[in-house]
Amino acid sequence: MSVLALVGGTGIDQFEGLEIVDRHALETPWGEPSRPIDEGQFHGHRLFFLQRHGAPRAIPPHLINYRANLWALRSLGVDTVVALNAVGGITPAMVTGALVLPDQLIDYTWGREHTVDEGAGGHLQHIDFTQPYDAALRAALRQAASDAGVSLVDGGVHGVAQGPRLETAAEVRRLARDGCDLVGMTGMPEAALARELGMRYASVCMVVNPAAGLGDELITLESMRDALAGCTAAFARMLAALVVETP
Ligand code: HPA
Repeated sequence: MSVLALVGGTGIDQFEGLEIVDRHALETPWGEPSRPIDEGQFHGHRLFFLQRHGAPRAIPPHLINYRANLWALRSLGVDTVVALNAVGGITPAMVTGALVLPDQLIDYTWGREHTVDEGAGGHLQHIDFTQPYDAALRAALRQAASDAGVSLVDGGVHGVAQGPRLETAAEVRRLARDGCDLVGMTGMPEAALARELGMRYASVCMVVNPAAGLGDELITLESMRDALAGCTAAFARMLAALVVETP
């Protein structure tokens, strides 16, 4: 029986459909998470929810305390994490409004606290990260999308940039040459920390703009808002199918 958490990002301060029954303000060895973690019922199933940017604050991607966030979730008994990430689209299938289930990532972030492994037990952990996302959870998400009638692009390389600024056009061309299909800012070190802490983890990316240099318009939060709203609604339908199918 899995204990599921949703870690949400840009545009999702409250997760619609989640009836909150408790709120956990936790302290971890790494400090406080982005905000207290909501515990609620979602379509009759227990679901934890954490906004990684910490609304009503707005913690930028490079300052999020990913270690505290993941540690706090695990201390609540969470063993399965679905992450929602807003991203820019690079390759042709990654059109604005698409929901994508990436299968790989490239980490371009720097200076973030990216491990809970400080060798305390006298040995180092060196997690296997060949497949950064959990295969069974990805399969369950694929099935849930299909059952909910939500179209989901299966597979893609998620390039995780440092931010908080968006990329230059040349940086996006380099990301494309590296094999990235998507670019976001919050996918790491979250995925690796979940692996270190023994939690299943998969990301669902919402494409909210063409990456820099690929569209005709300036990239602004306003321009992302419509895509965010549509993606979030579709994602909620998919998550409802997931909780019903994998109680
Ligand atoms: N780049 C990086 N992160 C993002 C983008 C982008 O174009 N859009 C949303 N998050």
